[in-house]
Amino acid sequence: MKVVVLTGAGISAESGLTTFRDSGGLWEGHDPMQVATPEAYADDPGLVQRFYDARRAALDTVEPNAAHHALARLEQALGDDLLLVTQNVDDLHERAGSRRVHHVHGSLRSAWCTACDARREWSGPLAEGPPCPGCGSTSLRPDIVWFGEIPYGMDVVEDALESCDLFVSIGTSGLVYPAAAFVHWARGDTLELNLEPSAGATDFAESRQGPATVLVPAWVEEVLA
Ligand code: APR
Ligand code: ZN
Repeated sequence: MKVVVLTGAGISAESGLTTFRDSGGLWEGHDPMQVATPEAYADDPGLVQRFYDARRAALDTVEPNAAHHALARLEQALGDDLLLVTQNVDDLHERAGSRRVHHVHGSLRSAWCTACDARREWSGPLAEGPPCPGCGSTSLRPDIVWFGEIPYGMDVVEDALESCDLFVSIGTSGLVYPAAAFVHWARGDTLELNLEPSAGATDFAESRQGPATVLVPAWVEEVLA
């Protein structure tokens, strides 16, 4: 059975990482939605770098939860028949054991040099402008896809959706495209697992409400039974 799973911030909420729209919080007095933009980076690169440096540092304080571990078990069972796509920029899927994670919005654990275009594993802060290990320029930015930029690897995602038997959306509000359109591109059955009905809940054949740490392990057990 070919399965495509999409995860959003909701799958990491019970690990202690606030979601985008539930946080309601400001960061240094700024709406995070306003910080995650190329315009904000051009206007005040230090602010944007500090925003992501704080989020990267927070990764070391959280652990994957039962939902991340359940999806790693699913990958062990399904192998290449599972495509795990995440909008999240955290590394909790990888730390739970998932080996093929498709980050369509980039990753906090990667830095992108806009001078030589190299992308590298990165763990420290990017504020204060460390030099690119490759070309020495100080043009390193978070390797995150900001609003208005093109998500990564959409051709792979589209192909998988058009040939899958099942598409499952977990912990996403269904407000940001193109991920919000995946349910329409999916050839097979569709299932939503979310704390509350997302904006696209009625587009799914089935929509279950509850915490990811309860719904996802139960669903994986159903699939593997
Ligand atoms: N279990 C399951 N779902 C949860 C939980 C939980 N414990 N907690 C919250 N949720 C749900 C919320 O109900 C909400 O529908 O997760 C969803 C989180 O939605 P958002 O905060 O909008 O996050 P997401 O959908 O991932 O945002 C998509 O928007 O901000 C941009 O690029 C950013 O990748 C992000 C994209
Ligand atoms: Zn470089």
